[in-house]
Amino acid sequence: MSVSHEVRRIGDLSRSQLENLVAAATAAPSMHNTQPWRFRITGSFIEIQIDPQRALPAEDPQGWTQRLACGAALFNLRMALMSAGFAPKVNMGLAGQSGAAVAQVALGDKHICPPWAQELADAITKRHTVREPFVEALVPADVQAKLQNAAHEEGADLRLFDDSASLTEIGRLIHAAHFWHVSDDASAQELRAWTGKSADDREGVPSVAAGPDARPSELLDFRDFSRGEGRSMPLSKGYESRPLIGILSVPSTRNVDDVYAGQAMQRVLLAATAHGLVASFLSEIVEVPETAARLAERFLSGHHPVPRMVLRMGYGTAAGHAKRRDVSSVIIDERVAP
Ligand SMILES: Cc1cc2nc3c(=O)[nH]c(=O)nc-3n(C[C@H](O)[C@H](O)[C@H](O)COP(=O)(O)O)c2cc1C
Repeated sequence: MSVSHEVRRIGDLSRSQLENLVAAATAAPSMHNTQPWRFRITGSFIEIQIDPQRALPAEDPQGWTQRLACGAALFNLRMALMSAGFAPKVNMGLAGQSGAAVAQVALGDKHICPPWAQELADAITKRHTVREPFVEALVPADVQAKLQNAAHEEGADLRLFDDSASLTEIGRLIHAAHFWHVSDDASAQELRAWTGKSADDREGVPSVAAGPDARPSELLDFRDFSRGEGRSMPLSKGYESRPLIGILSVPSTRNVDDVYAGQAMQRVLLAATAHGLVASFLSEIVEVPETAARLAERFLSGHHPVPRMVLRMGYGTAAGHAKRRDVSSVIIDERVAP
């Protein structure tokens, strides 16, 4: 997006420039593709708000996944603004309060976009959740270090595992969390309401992005995004035996740390995309308090003891992906016409 020299504040942007920025933000991932955000536009900032209509009360009664998704949208918005030649100023002061606002983002000073930010901005539209089996290939150590650095830059930690003992233990915890969800009627109903959508639907997860049914012998359990209509796995194929599993964690359960976690998650995902990796989410283990506590006890320590996402990363391709609502339905434009 190119912006003329006269643009100094959000109020100076044209409607189409604004829509491009919001489109970049809404390319962020969200649980079940609920897209739980709104963007209030004033003359001086874009305020990212949680949309209370898009909550998941059974699976996420605390609303932390909404804050995470809005944090991911915030990170995309920051990168889109940097790519447009600004050094955005972010006010996170509202994130800790009970209202809907998560952050206010002002244009900031004019700034030449550094290569690292351009690389991440370029990855925004290329990133999609890939639930297909990955190829059997390990992620090199230098790429793993870049993913960890991406999390650290946003105030989070990323512990990575591809050894079979850790994968087996994490797999067992995911299995316990998955069993909890499928046995809970309200959670199962909520999942069905948002999944098994057609490829053209602009919210929820389409069956085409669901991934094949995992065999009972697989290492990991996956949510069924196809409403029970899933493709069966070809006999010749199975899920990869050694995915790279990343546990993203933050210092506390404060609301503002969920927003930081979302930014860090998105930075990791975009860095992964830039390095040719794909990812899917294994968030059930974090959603169920008992398995989250066990995960923290076994795998986390120090200053970042609260797990906020578990990612499966590797090399593969998407069979299809989830669309987004039209940006006009998420923009609340309060700018005064000139
Ligand atoms: C907090 C959170 C939890 C998620 N949980 C899962 C999950 O348990 N399983 C899964 O396959 N995808 C999960 N996702 C991925 C979303 O389903 C995905 O982001 C959404 O459908 C949009 O698709 P996209 O990522 O391809 O843009 C999660 C995403 C977020 C942000």
